[in-house]
Amino acid sequence: MLMLGLVMTGSLYAAFAPAQAESAESDTELIAEGRELFLISCVFCHGQNGEGVLTEGGTQYGPSLAGVGAAAADFQLGTGRMPLVQPGAQGAAKAPVFNEDEIAALSAYVGSLGPGPAIPDEGDYSIESLDDEEREEAISRGGQIFLTNCTACHNFSGNGGAMPRGGQAPSILNTSPEHIYEAMLTGPGNMDVFSNGNLTPEEKRDVIAYIETMRDQPEYGGFGLGGLGPVSEGLFGWLVGIGGLVGFAIWIAAHSTRTTKAPMKGTDA
Ligand code: HEC
Ligand code: HEC
Repeated sequence: MLMLGLVMTGSLYAAFAPAQAESAESDTELIAEGRELFLISCVFCHGQNGEGVLTEGGTQYGPSLAGVGAAAADFQLGTGRMPLVQPGAQGAAKAPVFNEDEIAALSAYVGSLGPGPAIPDEGDYSIESLDDEEREEAISRGGQIFLTNCTACHNFSGNGGAMPRGGQAPSILNTSPEHIYEAMLTGPGNMDVFSNGNLTPEEKRDVIAYIETMRDQPEYGGFGLGGLGPVSEGLFGWLVGIGGLVGFAIWIAAHSTRTTKAPMKGTDA
């Protein structure tokens, strides 16, 4: 029995230990690779060790990256915001400068600067594993959360809108689920952070499911009116529709013979 126990423990150890050692090694390799790229593309604004760089005026070229997490880096790099071309301007989403491997390396490096949110797994934001009914529930829950938490800046239709001081909340309709999750987790720029205590991972998943259905919704043409729904449509109906009718009625009244002020010749009055 003792021998068997020892052999089992030994072989189990042999089976698992090297794999762990290997992944730890490849982690440090990945981080080192990321550091190389960081030194070339990011130190100008974020400093030698990601501590951030202040200008002489006291404003920032780039903030400290300690503790922003791999998720923030994956978001910023994956949506093409970083490397920023010019300090000061809000980074716009564009085609990423780095390929997937480089983004993974840079994210690993930024993640190693301090504890912060990790890059989410597909299981965190996919509703594939749910059955039809659960999916519908998830989408309607997500809609509620979206309406209360996101529409103030991103609009009811997810098309985005203006922010104070010349900033803007971009459209979120073409953002990948992974990047939507990371945006909530890390709050880029002027966006609020929706930490897991604030919106649970499940609620984040539901919001993403809702955004995905919005994306699939056909445009019926005509004026979108910001997708505000019955309120703006009703207002439009009242002001433009009924207002137009009233205006037309006044026009008719003004041009009919009855309002002619001068008495007609040949009448008794
Ligand atoms: C206070 C306003 C505000 C709120 C509330 C807000 N956002 Fe944002 N969001 C922004 C701004 C501003 C940006 C752009 C940040 C930047 O470019 O640095 C942004 C960016 C994003 C992006 C990146 C889009 C892209 O691909 O470029 C996503 C996705 C996103 N927000 C999702 C959400 C979701 C989901 C919610 C609700 C849970 C939400 N936001 C709530 C202001 C807001
Ligand atoms: C020209 C200056 C500049 C360069 C170059 C630059 N950044 Fe940035 N970075 C900024 C600024 C400014 C912000 C703050 C953006 C904001 O708040 O909207 C920022 C924000 C970030 C954030 C988000 C921090 C947070 O709090 O969520 C990450 C991550 C990041 N940068 C990574 C990088 C990486 C990686 C590179 C190199 C590939 C890079 N940056 C290159 C200026 C720069």
